[in-house]
Amino acid sequence: MPYQTPYGMHDILPEDQPWWKFLRDTFEELCRRYGFVRIDTPILEYTAVFSKGVGQGTDIVDKEMYYFEDKGGDWLALRPEFTAGIVRAYLQNGMRSRPQPVKLYSIGALFRRDRPGAGRYRQFHQVNAEIIGTDDPAADAELIEMAVSYARKIGLSSLNVLLNSTGCSACKPPYIEKLVKFLSERIDRLGDLDKERAKRNPLRVLDSKDEKTQQALREGVPLLPDYLCDACKKHYEEVKKLLKPLNLPISERPTLVRGLDYYTRTVFEIVATKASEVGTVLGGGRYDYLAEILDGPATPAAGFAGGIERLILALKKEGVEAPAADRPEIFVAYVGGETKETAFQLAKKLREAGFLTILDLGGKSLKSQLRSADRSGAPLTVIVGAGELAQNKVQVRCMAKSTQTLVCLDDLESFLRSKLQEKDL
Ligand code: HAM
Repeated sequence: MPYQTPYGMHDILPEDQPWWKFLRDTFEELCRRYGFVRIDTPILEYTAVFSKGVGQGTDIVDKEMYYFEDKGGDWLALRPEFTAGIVRAYLQNGMRSRPQPVKLYSIGALFRRDRPGAGRYRQFHQVNAEIIGTDDPAADAELIEMAVSYARKIGLSSLNVLLNSTGCSACKPPYIEKLVKFLSERIDRLGDLDKERAKRNPLRVLDSKDEKTQQALREGVPLLPDYLCDACKKHYEEVKKLLKPLNLPISERPTLVRGLDYYTRTVFEIVATKASEVGTVLGGGRYDYLAEILDGPATPAAGFAGGIERLILALKKEGVEAPAADRPEIFVAYVGGETKETAFQLAKKLREAGFLTILDLGGKSLKSQLRSADRSGAPLTVIVGAGELAQNKVQVRCMAKSTQTLVCLDDLESFLRSKLQEKDL
């Protein structure tokens, strides 16, 4: 075909929609139970929201963000993530004056000009939750527990939660100095990409996938948790203490730093171990300075997001059965005389009465209408025929059994309703 989706983007076809609906509905129901309310922010934000918020020097901003100057000279970016836009909205809409913390969730499309691959797209979708306005370690623990609950509720059985603390403005900078020293002493032994990263964003070298770099790191790279200040240590210990009795599949990963610069203290990522090739399915953490970075007052916060495409891929790889799609209940066919108008009105009436109804479109022969009825998956077909109509009646055909019953139009709805209850339909 001459026209295709842009490279790395994809259509979500009707046959996949039951998965999408199930993942969205399950997330919304969970958010409701945990006291989150929905927020929708624009898909476009001023570029600075992300270049400052997510951070210059991150791959997301430097390499992957779609941005442009509009006709009025404003620089706008397609959102590569939700968090910075949500914090912008929190500040702009005076949500600080509401009871704190404010718990917000979002579901929608994000854009990153990433290298497309398994579970990596240039337009993808996230479910996202944020707790803004508290530094309580219980918020971090609640988010981790909620992310695991979500993954389990949708059907992922084998999970691994990687957990770390990345410190604060007091303990992170001196740690980074130590890390930079360690890396510069071994710069020749790092992978090519990491040589550059060591200068631009040294923390990212820690979770490099490059075997050469990993080899160099094994020689005693300084690890963040060993350099946490007392307040960060206490915070991290409390997060772990709250989570311990839940027996979640948590592994501490002292090299976990994540790809966005705003994180402080707790960070976590969740991998579906039976589908690890799709990458991290959910990830998040605390970001106590993001509000200040966006010129607001100090506002501690934490959150997480899950990639809907990756979650669906992982579910399919685990062999989880697709959620059932809606199927029509009634197909309306017609034959002879002025029956088309009656069939048209009958279909409307049945829909108003709550039946999932398909009206034959195309005016084919009865035989081909019945073929369409079969293909539609509707268990019952109402056949409006001129002869029967003269007696105020229609035929109701049970598609599986190929049996037909003559039913008075006045009794049709109750007849259909009781028929649809039959198990072997
Ligand atoms: P993130 O780790 O960049 O975090 O993205 C979260 C999830 O989105 C990933 O675990 C993955 O499932 C999915 N994802 C990311 N990039 C892609 C892609 N190119 N294609 C498909 N799926 C992708 C964030 O975005 C943070 N804002 C999460 C957060 C919320 N932290 C605090 N609050």
